[in-house]
Amino acid sequence: MEKTEQKKYHIITYGCQMNLHESEKMAGILSRKGYVATDDKTQADIILFNTCCIRENAENHAFGNIGELKKLKKDKPSLLIAVGGCMTQETGKAQIIRQKFPFVDIIFGNLNLEELGELIDKKSAQKKKIVALREREGEVIEYDPPLRNSYPNAWVNIMYGCNNFCSYCIVPYVRGRERSRKPEHILAECEQLVKEGYREITLLGQNVNSYGSDGSTDMPFYELLEKVAQIEGDFRVRFMTSHPKDFTEELVKVIKNNRKICHLIHLPVQSGNDRVLKEMNRRYTAGEYLNKVKMLRSYLPDAEITSDLIVGFPGETDEEFEDTLTLAKEVNFASAFTFVYSKRTGTKAAQMPNQIPEEVQKQRIMRLVELINALTREKSAKYVGKEVEILCEDYDEKKNVYFGRDEYGRMGYFTAEQNCIGKFVTLKIDRANGVSLYGEAVSMR
Ligand code: 5AD
Ligand code: SF4
Repeated sequence: MEKTEQKKYHIITYGCQMNLHESEKMAGILSRKGYVATDDKTQADIILFNTCCIRENAENHAFGNIGELKKLKKDKPSLLIAVGGCMTQETGKAQIIRQKFPFVDIIFGNLNLEELGELIDKKSAQKKKIVALREREGEVIEYDPPLRNSYPNAWVNIMYGCNNFCSYCIVPYVRGRERSRKPEHILAECEQLVKEGYREITLLGQNVNSYGSDGSTDMPFYELLEKVAQIEGDFRVRFMTSHPKDFTEELVKVIKNNRKICHLIHLPVQSGNDRVLKEMNRRYTAGEYLNKVKMLRSYLPDAEITSDLIVGFPGETDEEFEDTLTLAKEVNFASAFTFVYSKRTGTKAAQMPNQIPEEVQKQRIMRLVELINALTREKSAKYVGKEVEILCEDYDEKKNVYFGRDEYGRMGYFTAEQNCIGKFVTLKIDRANGVSLYGEAVSMR
């Protein structure tokens, strides 16, 4: 009997957690079509790019990697190459991809991700390339199970899109307006995940605190969060991202009263200067942000805060940049994602005068990174001698260590004889190195 080989897929993802999770949805679609995953591009029958466009370097990165496939496609004409994600949703980008990379077979977007299976069938039946994009967001789609590869954590979308239009940001243009999933769908998914043994659930949305703002549900985010945390089982809950303007006391009370919710809040501030914040259209001042932090810590003294920070926004002066450093110190961030402002065509900030020279941006980002690293290191040192509970995520074969994060996001490493992935492990920390903690496992469950 003739042996039929299983078809293989390889997905390359750029950007945020949202994209990583959407790649899991794509993997789900492909696996239901009989494909299996491969790490080896040369073995793949379909290579899929899930692109990001939030900063220029994410785009350049994807362009470089797509370009590299020209030879592979020439050697193996049956190889299907598909480009999806956020970049294809940008005005005119699909055209550029078509011109630059004529060997790409399918171009689709994040707004019609659910069509992937049909597009593959269609392309297999015709020679002609396919460009299938939806310009505006449609109804919320309830997907068949994604093929998750993030155990013991599971990402769960609670909403899509963004209404905030921060002046630098392209997300609202490529992901459309806010749409929320129904609470019953989210809760059913979470219950199932806990039953399957997932030990951490991360609720995802561009701005989780405006959950339901599209009128699709009356349930506010804090109530949804509480319901997720009340699902029976031994697991923890995270959520991201929170816009500071919508971060409320009700939410903090829910966190305090439900110990499954991690005391780590990702609360992007972007800048510490009021004029810059106004130009960014963030709709809070540095003082208001600091008040939210104070409110949070009054309920949860142990709460840690992480952030996103941008340097070199158009017109940002040296003094205004210093305000960002001052605020970062005052909040005492546990860590932060630091970004150099990237001009995105179509956004309001792209039209602003006084774009900051690259050299100045570089100096500023270096100083900011140095500060954030110092804050993180200082905190790590305080862990030495203490016990910390981490959720073991993975095993590093080369170093022969298991590792995972505590509820505050700090990475702990340890050795063990048995497989610990998916276990809550208590470590006695004997050494801190930069942001990493090392210790001995004293118990696990
Ligand atoms: N340039 C630099 N950083 C950006 N971000 C969003 N748009 C830009 C841009 N044009 C950052 C913000 C946001 C994070 C997801 O990406 O800090 O919170
Ligand atoms: Fe972009 Fe602002 Fe929306 Fe975040 S809140 S996705 S930074 S527009």
